[in-house]
Amino acid sequence: MGIQIERIARDIEIINSFNATPGRGVTRFTFSEPYMRARAYVAAELRQTGAKMVTTLGGNLCGRLEGSTKGLPSVMTGSHIDSVLHGGRFDGVAGVVVALEVARVMAEQKLPHRHPLDVVVFAEEEGSRFGSVMIGSRAWTGTLTSDDLHRLRDADGVSYAAAMAKAGLIVEEEAVLKRGMVKAMIELHIEQSLVLETKGVPIGIVEGINGIKQFGVSLTGVSNHAGATPMGLRHDALQGAARIIAAVEEMAVGEMGGKTVATVGMVSCEPGQANVIPGKVQFSVDIRDLDTEQIDQATRRIMSVIQTTCQTRGLSFDIQPRSDTPPVRLSEEVVRIIEDTAREQDIKTLRMPSGALHDSSILPAVTEVGMIFVPSKAGRSHCPEEETDIEDIRTGAELLLGSVSKIAC
Ligand code: CO
Repeated sequence: MGIQIERIARDIEIINSFNATPGRGVTRFTFSEPYMRARAYVAAELRQTGAKMVTTLGGNLCGRLEGSTKGLPSVMTGSHIDSVLHGGRFDGVAGVVVALEVARVMAEQKLPHRHPLDVVVFAEEEGSRFGSVMIGSRAWTGTLTSDDLHRLRDADGVSYAAAMAKAGLIVEEEAVLKRGMVKAMIELHIEQSLVLETKGVPIGIVEGINGIKQFGVSLTGVSNHAGATPMGLRHDALQGAARIIAAVEEMAVGEMGGKTVATVGMVSCEPGQANVIPGKVQFSVDIRDLDTEQIDQATRRIMSVIQTTCQTRGLSFDIQPRSDTPPVRLSEEVVRIIEDTAREQDIKTLRMPSGALHDSSILPAVTEVGMIFVPSKAGRSHCPEEETDIEDIRTGAELLLGSVSKIAC
């Protein structure tokens, strides 16, 4: 017997019974009481497979099944069990329970593996408690120092380090994760979007995490009387903004080929009166893609539309850079291994970018990383309605088991 879906379903049930807001989605903040109980459950289940449990730098839980050859780098899999406020039952949890089931099957069936298998629960992925995301993986890989963990505080002023200690966690593995220690890492996660469901494909194979460029645009025209000013003599900032905003979508769907996503999510207009021509409009632009060059190209196109629109309409403009996070490429080698395994198991897959950040965005600094996405019903996530078909989780678990076994053998 391979993957047993009843065990996975039970794990999901039990982990989500540890919840600070029953009836109003799942709330499980890092190192809180429900979190520690869920963490203890995962640790106890892992221990039954014969795994040796340690708490690493940053408070991550790592269960190791030794391989048959001593001293080889490990193959890692896992995700997180902390949640957002009133979140769902699958974000993070799906990746932890399938990793746990993979460890069970490998132990029970004595599947040969020379490399150790590490099942990991990363701490504070969501950033819900300490206001900063992926703290566990960043601390483990040395991006965050011990000083940082004393500095980062929750809403009550409790530091990350103090909260860890208060929860009874002692770092047993003090080594910073470095290149050469982990051969590869694969994280299964829910897609948190609609692509897989819409295309009817059960598995997404993530090629990378999208880069994000955000900037603000201010257009200034002339506020004037809506009745007394003839149409030909206006400098209406909102009419200019409307054309630029429309062009943002047309550009992404058209010239950029629909892979780049571009969004105007915030608009404000002054003075905001029905009888006054708008004199000033501000809006945000958010552009995301796996390819930096595509992001830059989309940005140049939007800039050129802003310029020509303002020229023809007698408006002035100002651009405020907000953020520029480069994309993260995952391992082509691991992507191929997952694809090969899917082909052998007769599973349909789709290569895709991840729009959201994950611990898998941090790990490429030290190892080869791959991600498996399973569909989210109606694309809902970070809300109580978050749902994934258990059959899709089974498919993902089989694929994870096959891929991990291949890399660890
Ligand atoms: Co997550």
